[in-house]
Amino acid sequence: MIQVSKQEFGTTIQGTEVFLYTLTNKNKMSVSVSTFGGTIVSVKVPDRDGILIDVVLGYDDLASYETQDKYIGALIGRCGNRIAKGQFKLNGKKYQLYCNDGNNHLHGGKIGFDKKVWDAETTETGLKLTYISPDGEEGYPGTLTVHVTYTLSDDNRLSIDYVATSDADTVCNLTNHTYFNLSGYDSGTIVDQKIQLFADCYTVADQESLPNGEIVSVENTPLDLRQPTRIGDNIDSSFEQIQFAGGFDHNWAINDYDGTLKQAAWAYAESSGITLIAATTLPGIQFYSGNYLDGASAGKKGATIYKRCGFCLESQYFPNALENPNFLQPVLEKGKVYHAETTYQFGIK
Ligand code: BGC
Repeated sequence: MIQVSKQEFGTTIQGTEVFLYTLTNKNKMSVSVSTFGGTIVSVKVPDRDGILIDVVLGYDDLASYETQDKYIGALIGRCGNRIAKGQFKLNGKKYQLYCNDGNNHLHGGKIGFDKKVWDAETTETGLKLTYISPDGEEGYPGTLTVHVTYTLSDDNRLSIDYVATSDADTVCNLTNHTYFNLSGYDSGTIVDQKIQLFADCYTVADQESLPNGEIVSVENTPLDLRQPTRIGDNIDSSFEQIQFAGGFDHNWAINDYDGTLKQAAWAYAESSGITLIAATTLPGIQFYSGNYLDGASAGKKGATIYKRCGFCLESQYFPNALENPNFLQPVLEKGKVYHAETTYQFGIK
């Protein structure tokens, strides 16, 4: 039995009320989600001694979420990750999106889904959020109706289910940008934690983190994370791909992709004993080691959000896919339904 409670979480600068919903299961695991950005604000899971640890980065107040630019915990759309020069062609027509990351468009643009207030309704096992993105928002065609449902199970699994429809062909690639720290949000860097990715290949990217279309083997590279590996072991390797990104910030092609739920990643923190398994129906996973976190803003209870104190596992269509026709295209046709599911299963080792 999942319990869902609701509390006020403040009012945006524009005057819209924001709420925080908390899902709690029979083990007292809880997940709190704000209607601002559909953001995961906390995930409290039992450690090996049964003590609840909050394993995600975040802030205590709405104002910090409104001003942050690291997408901490937020839902991302319409298109996760980068689109080169913010340009794409659809049905022969050229579109220009806002470029908010140097020369490129990142995570939905200037005001992405992470900065929108979502409508919320509770379900038996969770929370259903809805956002309707108007035609032309951030330069994208079509009115996109998005439903994201967060569900918690009694076996400590958080599921995120994404459904979207559009009244015109458009681009759609939704994800969540939670930064995990399995020793706790205030425990320091994640370099001693372990990561395993179920991926034989990754997409090669340039200095601007734009994949160029090549999908290559991880063999004999620091991106070979097929066995559980201490994150810090190769994070500063001289390998060009790691140097370009300042650590891990790449898209891996999940093995055996067929649109059904596949295990993408496993992570573990020795100090807490907490494990995390990420699975998704999508073809790619961005493992991002928080290289651009900079300590500029204080997080929950004043904890510093500094470089590499959290990692993201963002399920996705491959970044910059619109420029690379050999990648699966994140195009949602009018009348079709976009559906994706990503799960984060917590456990103890
Ligand atoms: C990207 C990083 C980017 C970060 C923004 C990640 O998904 O891969 O390159 O800097 O989001 O916080």
